[in-house]
Amino acid sequence: MKRIFSGIQPTGNLHLGNYLGAVKNWVKLQSTYECIYCIVDMHAITTFQDPKKLTQNIRDAAAILIASGININSSILFNQSRVPMHAELAWIFNCIAKIGWLNRMTQFKDKAGKNREKASAGLYIYPNLMAADILSYKATHVPVGDDQKQHLELTRDIAISFNDSYGIKYFPVVEPLIIGEATRVMSLRDGSKKMSKSDNSDFTRINITDSKDVIASKIKKAKTDSLPVPESITALSGRLEAKNLLGIFAALKEVSLEKIIKDYGGGTFSVLKEDLAECIISELVPVSSEIKNLQNNREYLDKILKDGATKAEEISKPIIKEVKEIVGFLVA
Ligand code: AMP
Ligand code: TRP
Repeated sequence: MKRIFSGIQPTGNLHLGNYLGAVKNWVKLQSTYECIYCIVDMHAITTFQDPKKLTQNIRDAAAILIASGININSSILFNQSRVPMHAELAWIFNCIAKIGWLNRMTQFKDKAGKNREKASAGLYIYPNLMAADILSYKATHVPVGDDQKQHLELTRDIAISFNDSYGIKYFPVVEPLIIGEATRVMSLRDGSKKMSKSDNSDFTRINITDSKDVIASKIKKAKTDSLPVPESITALSGRLEAKNLLGIFAALKEVSLEKIIKDYGGGTFSVLKEDLAECIISELVPVSSEIKNLQNNREYLDKILKDGATKAEEISKPIIKEVKEIVGFLVA
C-alpha cells in the first residue's frame, strides 16, 4: 500500500517554486493515494519566527493549500505541532542519525551560512524531525522539490539503520516523488539561485498571491539573455534563465520541455514572456481569490487543521507505541 506524506514550512511568501515543485503534485496525487499533508511549524522555528506572524502564516498556508485544491475530505491537512508523535519519534531518530550524516546536509550549510556556531541546534537536526514526520505514518512516498532529495536520502538511511539496529523490518524505505519539468524553479533575477521565500527582492519570485499586474510585471522584467529562445534541449546548456522560464511554462501546461521548445524556440523572449505571464495568471489568480475567501473564515481554517490533527494522530499513535516497544521503553 502506498501512503503519501509531505510538508511545507509556514514561513510566508509561498511562491511558484513551492507550487510547481510541491503543491500542484500534492493535489494530483490525492485522486490515487491516501495523502497526509503537513504545515511544519516546528521546522519553521529552527530560525526565529515572530509568534504573531507564525500563527498568521500557518493559517495562510492552510488557505493556500486548500485554495490550490487540497481536498480536506479525502486528504489529511494539519499543522505539525498539534501531533506530539513527530517530536517523540524525532528524539529517537536523533539517537539513530550519525553526526557525520548531518554534517553532509547542504541545506544546513546554506541556511547556517558562515556563522555556523550561532545556528540553532534545531536547524542542525532538522532532517531528523523531517524523517520523523514521514515515518510517524510509515509513509512510503514523499512528493517534494529537488532541493529535498538529500533530506529524503537521510530519511532512508535512518529507516534502514533503525531496522538494522533493532533487527526488525519496521519502517519502510521511502521513495521521493520529484515530478514534472519544474522540480527546481530558479530566481527570476539569477538563474543560478533557487527561487526562495527569503530572498530580499520580491522580483526574484512569483508569490502565489501576487496580483495579475504584479505577475505580468515580474515576468516582463525576468532576466534573460540577448539570443533568441533556445531551439533544442542541448542549446539550453549555459542558458540558465531561458531554461528556467521554459521549465516553468512546461510544468504549468503539463507538457514536456521539448514541446515548449518546439513552440517557442527561435522566437523572441518577449513573445514567450507574454504567453508565460498569461499562463501563470490563469493558474494563480483564481487560486488567489479563493485564498482571500478562506482567509476571511479563520474559524473554518482552524477547525480543518484541528480535525486534520485528530485524524493524523489516530494513524501515528499506534505506530509510535510500537516503536517505543521496539526500543524497549516501558509503555504498558
Ligand atoms: P519549503 O518552502 O522549504 O517548506 O518547501 C516546501 C516544498 O516546496 C518542498 O517540497 C520543496 O522542495 C519545494 N520547493 C521549495 N522551493 C522550491 C523551488 N525553488 N523549486 C521547486 N520546488 C521548491
Ligand atoms: N524540509 C521540507 C522543506 O523545507 C519541509 C518538510 C518538513 C517536509 N517535513 C517534511 C517535506 C516531510 C516532506 C516530508 O521543504
